[in-house]
Amino acid sequence: MRETETIPIMISQFFKKHFPICPYQFSFILLCPLRSLFLSPRTLAKRLEIREDSTVLEVGPGPGYYSVPLARQLPHGKLVLADIQPQMLAQAKKRLAKRGQTNVDYYQCDGSQFDLPDNHFDAIFLITVFGEVQHQQEYMTEFFRLMKPGGILSISEIAIGDPHITPINNVQELATHAGFTVDKIYGSRWNYTANFRKPR
Ligand SMILES: C[S@@+](CC[C@H](N)C(=O)[O-])C[C@H]1O[C@@H](n2cnc3c(N)ncnc32)[C@H](O)[C@@H]1O
Repeated sequence: MRETETIPIMISQFFKKHFPICPYQFSFILLCPLRSLFLSPRTLAKRLEIREDSTVLEVGPGPGYYSVPLARQLPHGKLVLADIQPQMLAQAKKRLAKRGQTNVDYYQCDGSQFDLPDNHFDAIFLITVFGEVQHQQEYMTEFFRLMKPGGILSISEIAIGDPHITPINNVQELATHAGFTVDKIYGSRWNYTANFRKPR
């Protein structure tokens, strides 16, 4: 392996070991507007194929960079934000409340299962989160249970500045193992959105 390849891998391993999840103290980085250059909220909303009355689950919203524009796309629907760090959820809640979004519920994750009903969501999405999830197959199985037939699971990973990125092949394998079918893949292996569908 060349040195140019080993250095990024070593940096990534260091971060994964010492910071297995993005510390809430660094959440301000996630609010940088330049992030839209890699994935804009508008592009994300199109990829999720949501309607005004959709019920949507965002797992790992952090401080809510994507949650605010997404909640605005759901005037007759509901957005549920589920994060493992209560401090992140509190920041997202503050941000959405400040912008007058009342169509949002908040849920504290335990890292393995969701105490939420079966066949409930039209879409579930994660942006730069899946690589931080410890029990990935368990989460996939839960997403399948929570999703309405025909619903979309959308996983986006952006390598720039994120040491936790999960390779798209791994995501695809875990999603299909849980019962999803591959729907659409956008972007490149360094900046992708992988959409999966629960069969009807
Ligand atoms: C890198 S941040 C991304 C935040 C947001 N999606 C964004 O793009 O701005 C990752 C977020 O996922 C959350 N997270 C990590 N593991 C999780 C898990 N197992 N379940 C739910 N949330 C998790 C972290 O607490 C953090 O808020």
